[in-house]
Amino acid sequence: MATIVNVCGARPNFMKIAPLMRAYGGHPGLRPLLVHTGQHYDHNMSELFFKQLAIPEPDVNLGVGSGSHAVQTAEIMKRFEPVVLEHRPQWVVVVGDVNSTIACGLVAKKLGIGLAHVEAGLRSFDRSMPEELNRLLTDAISDLLFVSEPSGLENLRREGIPADRIHFVGNVMIDTLRANLAHAERSPVLAEMGLEPRGYNVVTLHRPSNVDDAGTFAGIAGALDAIQQDLPTVFPMHPRTVANLPRLGLAERFAGMKHLRIVKPLGYLDFLKLMASAAVVLTDSGGIQEETTILGVWCLTLRENTERPVTVTHGTNTVVGTDPDEILRAYRACRGRTVGERRVPEKWDGRAAERIAAVLAAQEFPECG
Ligand code: UD1
Repeated sequence: MATIVNVCGARPNFMKIAPLMRAYGGHPGLRPLLVHTGQHYDHNMSELFFKQLAIPEPDVNLGVGSGSHAVQTAEIMKRFEPVVLEHRPQWVVVVGDVNSTIACGLVAKKLGIGLAHVEAGLRSFDRSMPEELNRLLTDAISDLLFVSEPSGLENLRREGIPADRIHFVGNVMIDTLRANLAHAERSPVLAEMGLEPRGYNVVTLHRPSNVDDAGTFAGIAGALDAIQQDLPTVFPMHPRTVANLPRLGLAERFAGMKHLRIVKPLGYLDFLKLMASAAVVLTDSGGIQEETTILGVWCLTLRENTERPVTVTHGTNTVVGTDPDEILRAYRACRGRTVGERRVPEKWDGRAAERIAAVLAAQEFPECG
């Protein structure tokens, strides 16, 4: 029996861990445990996702909460170490690129436990992004690297990661999307908000580079003002962004946008429905670039780069940056146009988690140190 400790901490982790926890069920030799670090703790950012995605109750919740990067990362490490010592797993599986990912990965490796990283190899080549540091460092110490798109393979090869550690398995986030799309179609969110399919836009913004800087955020606000005058625009707002509006003196500016609907972060099913029927999605999220690719909905990424280039080459994504004129130009270029034929990225077929579980089940157990 191989014990596998699976780590999740922040909202984008929950969609990735859900299909994995299910896929382990097909392998009686695997004993999965789930650890929630508590990095995200609000009902709408965490518990709701567990319910909607039928993720089992975590075996352990570290309850770390918010803090500076150093405090949050250190606190996760301090609280995770005794859990690993108690359970002595053969593997620790971490997903994505959040602080919980690197914190738990580092703890595992220093205790000599096998480390597997799901969504390995993605690179924005922008080391001012906290997530890029988390990705680079986690990949550098992982024993098994599960890759979601071809760019990940190239990046890991270039960084000298031995080929036998790398497995191109596809995208677990898309497993979750495919498993829940029919259910999400029944969400009443459009009727509740009085929206018509393709008659509105959706915005999400939470990256520090966009919402912590007054100048950048004010520029984006200018573009959003014009966009919401064109079509009603729904903005489910991340807590970081909510906190920044008054701090950066932008609360009145946003309150003045009469067709911009600022709402609380939505649950998975409502948000999926909202995205699927939108005219245009404007975002700085990584996962949303992937989801709109499969949904066939225009996506404008308000960043200077993406670590997910397959969403541009195969999907509906355009990386537009944060210059307001560029955002508006890109918006007008896709608004009202139908999305044409696209190629589905390789292995984004809803079976990535099954492939990962099969690889883990086939491993000889590394020695616990
Ligand atoms: C984190 C991830 C980011 C991911 C995002 C998704 C890192 C470095 N960043 O960013 O990659 O895209 O999650 O949401 O791990 N807060 C609450 N309630 C919560 C969670 C957060 O109020 O449930 C507030 C706190 O004030 C906190 C702030 O949001 O200080 C930021 O949270 P944090 O987890 O530090 O980073 P995110 O910006 O959410």
